[in-house]
Amino acid sequence: MGTWPERVSLREVGPRDGLQNEAPVPTDAKVRLLDLLPGTGLRRIEAVSFVHPRAIPQMADAEEVWARARKHPDVRYSALVPNLKGAQRAIAAGFTELEMVVSASDTHNRKNVNRSTAESLDDIAGVVQHVHDAGGTLEVIVSTSFGCPYEGEVPTSRVLDVVRRAVADGADRIAFGDTTGVATPGRVAALVDGYLATHAGTPFLLHFHNTRGTALANILTAMEHGATEFDASVGGLGGCPYAPGASGNVATEEVVHMLEDMGVATGVDLEALLEVARYAQDVVGHELPSAVLKAGPRTVTVPA
Ligand code: COA
Ligand code: ZN
Repeated sequence: MGTWPERVSLREVGPRDGLQNEAPVPTDAKVRLLDLLPGTGLRRIEAVSFVHPRAIPQMADAEEVWARARKHPDVRYSALVPNLKGAQRAIAAGFTELEMVVSASDTHNRKNVNRSTAESLDDIAGVVQHVHDAGGTLEVIVSTSFGCPYEGEVPTSRVLDVVRRAVADGADRIAFGDTTGVATPGRVAALVDGYLATHAGTPFLLHFHNTRGTALANILTAMEHGATEFDASVGGLGGCPYAPGASGNVATEEVVHMLEDMGVATGVDLEALLEVARYAQDVVGHELPSAVLKAGPRTVTVPA
C-alpha cells in the first residue's frame, strides 16, 4: 500500500450518466448544472449524450443543452454516442471529445444499443475513422467490464479482447464501466493489471457505481495498480429512481474528500463541489446518496 499517484484526473459524469438515470429535469436545470461545475475546479465533464430520444428521453434536449451551456475554456467536455448517427450529431454540435459505448457482454449490448458486441465493434471502427477525420478523438467505454446483469460473470479475458479490437481500430482512450456496481477490488486489480500488461500506451479510465458499496475501495485499489483517471458524479446523481436505496455513480465529493486527505490531488474544491451537489439534490427533488453530502467533510466539528 501507499503507492498512490500524486494526482488523479476526475471526469464529472453527473450531467449525463447521472441525469439519464433520474426522472427528466428541465433543460434550464441541465444548463445550470453544467455551468456551475467548472467553478469547483473540475476540468473534465461528460456533458450530454446523443442517443435515440425514445431510448433515453432524459437526453432528448442534448443539442439545446449544449448550445446554451457556457463552455469553460479550460474544461474538456465530452459527449457519449451509441453509433455513427450519434457521432455525427455530436460533431455537428461542436464536440471534439466523443465516447462510444460497447458492452463486453452480448446480452447487455443488445439491450442497450440493439446490436451484438461484435456488430458494435465493427461500428466503432467506422466511427473512429469518422471522428478522426473531423479532428476529434474517440474513447471506447467498455460496459459490463466487471459483470453483466443478464449473463453474470464477464471474464477479464473477454473484456481485454474487446479492448484489443478497439485499440487496433484506433480508439484514443479506453474506459472500463462497472455498469451495475458489481466490481470488487480483486477484480479491479486483475483487470487493471491485465490492461497495463498489454495496452500501456493507451490512456484508460475507470467508471464505478456504488450500488453495493464498493466504489471507493475499487478506486483505491485501481490507483495502487496504476490507474489515474476516474469518473464520478456530483452528489452520486444517478441512483435509479425505480429502485429505492440503490445508489448509482460514485459521488464526486466522496472521491475528492478521500483522495485529498490522502494527499492525492484532484484539483477540486470540496466546499464548492458540495454547493453544486446541494443544487443537484434540489433539481432532482430527492435525497442524493453521497455520504459526504449527508455528513459533511471530516473537518466539520460540532460544539463539545
Ligand atoms: N440519435 C437519434 N436518432 C437515432 C440515433 C441517434 N444516435 N441512432 C439512430 N437513430 C434513429 C435512426 O435515424 C432511425 O430513425 P428513423 O426510424 O426515423 O429512420 C431510428 O433511430 C432507428 O435506427 P437504428 O439504427 O435501427 O436504431 P435502433 O432502433 O436499433 O436503436 C440506438 C439503436 C443505439 C439508436 C438506441 O438503442 C439508443 O439510442 N441507445 C442508447 C442507449 C443508451 O444511451 N444507454 C445508456 C448509455 S450507456
Ligand atoms: Zn455509469
